[in-house]
Amino acid sequence: MIPNNIQSQFPILDTQVHGHPLVYLDNAATTQKPQSVIEALDDYYRTLNSNIHRGAHHLAAAATERYEAVRRQVQHLINARHSHEIVFTRGTTESINLVASSFSKRYFTGDDEVIVSGMEHHSDIVPWQLAGATLRPIPFSDEGVLDLETYEKLFSSKTRIVAVNHVSNTLGTVNPVAEIIRIAHNHGVPVLIDGAQSISHLKVDVQALGCDFYCFSGHKMYGPMGVGVMYGREEILNELPPYQGGGEMIENVTFERTTYNQLPFKFEAGTPSVGDVIGLGVAIDFMQEVGVDNIAAHEDDLLRYATEGLSRIPGVRIFGTAPQKTSVLSFLVGDAHPYDIGTLLDQLGIAVRTGHHCTQPIMDRYHIPGTVRASFAVYNTREEVEVFLKALERVLPLLG
Ligand code: ALA
Repeated sequence: MIPNNIQSQFPILDTQVHGHPLVYLDNAATTQKPQSVIEALDDYYRTLNSNIHRGAHHLAAAATERYEAVRRQVQHLINARHSHEIVFTRGTTESINLVASSFSKRYFTGDDEVIVSGMEHHSDIVPWQLAGATLRPIPFSDEGVLDLETYEKLFSSKTRIVAVNHVSNTLGTVNPVAEIIRIAHNHGVPVLIDGAQSISHLKVDVQALGCDFYCFSGHKMYGPMGVGVMYGREEILNELPPYQGGGEMIENVTFERTTYNQLPFKFEAGTPSVGDVIGLGVAIDFMQEVGVDNIAAHEDDLLRYATEGLSRIPGVRIFGTAPQKTSVLSFLVGDAHPYDIGTLLDQLGIAVRTGHHCTQPIMDRYHIPGTVRASFAVYNTREEVEVFLKALERVLPLLG
């Protein structure tokens, strides 16, 4: 059960937009923040602000303790074996760039392939291209289901890693990542999972999945922007060179030679976003108090309800109708341009995202310029879904 007062925990949800109460349905882009997270950030800068790991004074010790406690919290959230397998980054994008950069330096030979899904976000495509890889995309059906038979055939002696998202930010498909990992490991190939869209919707157990890397962002799980996580298995992280050089990631520096710190500090050069990490810990508290299973059940209900309502509107095409799906509803109506629909909905207070959602290959797959995307979070309600559907019916005639 979701607490009745959940919306009152999110101050921004009181906002009026163009004279209408805000209906925020852009949660796949970023979720709003509960009061507890906002207060934690405020409290950090009022009472705790200090650089960590290096000061002898009270504030430095207290901030370090809080920062490291969140590392253990994340460890437990995703059931990592060790807390030093949790590396704090700026977000999913930086996490994947870190892996692509360090992994390619260690394992690429000059003729390297990376298997990705055909529904990857640009942030799980471009870092691999920058690292010099040729990409082998796994095709998907019209419904948005990955073709695992073709996937098996993409492996070759040049395959270095498989990188796929757990949940598609555009189609909402929950990909069969356990099976994808099993197949990759049978070929001796490690797997990175982009968990940006799954971490706030599904229970994640990296040991049960057996993935080698799992990346996600704080801001899509009710936490602050500017903080994220790169989980990596200890054995593989120990093999990788550092991503960035700077303070804290070293063991010893001379002008001739530098040796590196142990995990996880080897990958955390420079001053991290300490307050945001602490805010992330409070966001995890929030999710766990509500219960990730409860959040998932609630969002599934909203998705079903919205899908049924949307399907009744003439001319609607829904993109992403996989049986395993969560929280994301992408669609077009007739010939209306997605941007026009989004702009008119905004006039009625409804926030949706329009465009290619950083997944241009998906748009090419369907031969469309973009979609309108409504995406749901724990604080959304059936009443808001109804407001959204009524608003859509109201604006459509204006679009010819
Ligand atoms: N990746 C984010 C989205 O899907 C920004 O909206």
